[in-house]
Amino acid sequence: MDLNEKTSALDSPKSVTIIQTSTIHLGIDLGTNTSVLAAAVEGQPHPLPQDLITTVVGFPKPGILPGIIPSDAEHLFGEEAINYRLHMDLKWPLREGFIEDKETCRIFTRHLRHLVDPDFAYEIAGVVGSPANASEEKLKRVRSVMGSFLDRLLIVPEPFLAAMGLRDDEAFLRKGMQSDPTKHSLIVDIGAGTTDLCLVRGYFPTSEDLISINKAGDCVDDLINRNIQKRFPDVKLTQVTVRKIKEQHSFVSGYPRDASVKVYVDGRPRMLDFSDIIRDACDQLVPVVVEGIKELLAHCDSDSCANVMKNIIITGGGSQIHGLCDRVEKLLREDDYDCARTIVPADHKRLVARGALRIAQNVRDDQWQVPM
Ligand SMILES: Nc1ncnc2c1ncn2[C@@H]1O[C@H](COP(=O)(O)OP(=O)(O)OP(=O)(O)O)[C@@H](O)[C@H]1O
Ligand SMILES: [Mg+2]
Repeated sequence: MDLNEKTSALDSPKSVTIIQTSTIHLGIDLGTNTSVLAAAVEGQPHPLPQDLITTVVGFPKPGILPGIIPSDAEHLFGEEAINYRLHMDLKWPLREGFIEDKETCRIFTRHLRHLVDPDFAYEIAGVVGSPANASEEKLKRVRSVMGSFLDRLLIVPEPFLAAMGLRDDEAFLRKGMQSDPTKHSLIVDIGAGTTDLCLVRGYFPTSEDLISINKAGDCVDDLINRNIQKRFPDVKLTQVTVRKIKEQHSFVSGYPRDASVKVYVDGRPRMLDFSDIIRDACDQLVPVVVEGIKELLAHCDSDSCANVMKNIIITGGGSQIHGLCDRVEKLLREDDYDCARTIVPADHKRLVARGALRIAQNVRDDQWQVPM
């Protein structure tokens, strides 16, 4: 058991000396859209009031009347901030997978700390995911922001964490994916900011095993929004509404779904069919994924190629686009990747955080980095 003393003026309300008697191991998926936490103390799950938090901070708009915002709070977080969006300026601290607004991100991570350990009773040792092939400059930002939150830190590429998190995923085991995903697999994580691909072959991935592409859910939202404005100029939708519509109706070519949506135009309800617009926007991710997979398969030697091809795991929020997983498999097979097999894990939301927690629980003392 660790016994640490820590004085923190930044994190605790007053500058007091706190005796920390035990360590929380924490897995953190700091996502452009959603952040996810998984925690344990001495090998046992550590309960959290909330483990999925939309990565957004709301700041009350100037001149807002007292009593409008709950407890007249200085900030609201996640879905609560979104629910009060008429009265709050929303700031998303990450863009394309990386911390863009450091100050807002610090406020957000302080909130995460509050969820994990409101009384500052623990030392926190956390593994944080980063997009594949992050530059040193971008990693520095993560270390600097996380310094106000974690006592010990390790940054690991997100798709590799997803492979670690898959080891006990129900869908993965059920579909008869036999080999251990950390031995032979190809992970495709379609997030909001980036699509990350990683070849996993039993060791920590090198930069050759990783690809990160700035085309993911946010690009789909942008294209839907632009095309709605083009086709229906009198319809005004916020980015939040566009995202919600997409999440309800998304699909790719060959897997059609109804996408009739009720919107208000000049105060009157209208039913509009957004199917073509949503399909075209979702379709743009398919070649990104297929070409990324082919590029990584080209790095495999002949012995491992078939095993990797049978274990293509599509995860992240984008994996929920109706038909995307099957279409990727179909296109690969049509192009002679004969044993290509794709699967979406059962709990894609928590995969990265769960893998990060697994690693956090097994890091040797000398492997931790000291946050800046
Ligand atoms: N059913 C759905 N259909 C289409 N897109 C979806 C669906 N569900 C979620 N998404 C999209 O997935 C994206 C969020 O995925 P995820 O939570 O994995 O991202 P993130 O981890 O926050 O981002 P990143 O990894 O890029 O930092 C958003 O663009 C969201 O709209
Ligand atoms: Mg992610």
